[in-house]
Amino acid sequence: MSDQSLKLSADGARANAYAPYSDFHVGAALRTDAGDVYVGANVENASFGVCICAERSALSAAVSAGARNFSDLVLVSDAVEPVPPCGICRQALAEFAPSLRIKSYGQGGTTAEWSLAELLPNQFRLNESNGFTE
Ligand code: THU
Repeated sequence: MSDQSLKLSADGARANAYAPYSDFHVGAALRTDAGDVYVGANVENASFGVCICAERSALSAAVSAGARNFSDLVLVSDAVEPVPPCGICRQALAEFAPSLRIKSYGQGGTTAEWSLAELLPNQFRLNESNGFTE
């Protein structure tokens, strides 16, 4: 799937966002190393803490389907400027793909690109260095 189709997938998911409280719609398309694509949208709730971002919706769909390795994430939001993933989503994505490529599209015609390593340089991990033993 080309980057342009990935953007269309993310934009299609944005149309399904449930955002009656913020009126801010976000769609995400997450591509696996194998080339499969999983989409997500933000899903809000009257109990605001229950809201989930588009990025974690896509990640949950992908992981639930058995995917574990990801190469690219594309975001489309209502904002004029491209938005980066929030901090919680960065940590969630880094669990599986610490150097994920992220491309974001705003409505003003500009795009932004980051690597997840750049956005989250020191992700939290449970390992021997902090006393975790499997
Ligand atoms: N949101 C996302 O889905 N992704 C982001 O990267 C930033 C924020 C959602 C969460 C909430 O539903 C709305 O946008 C406003 O914060």
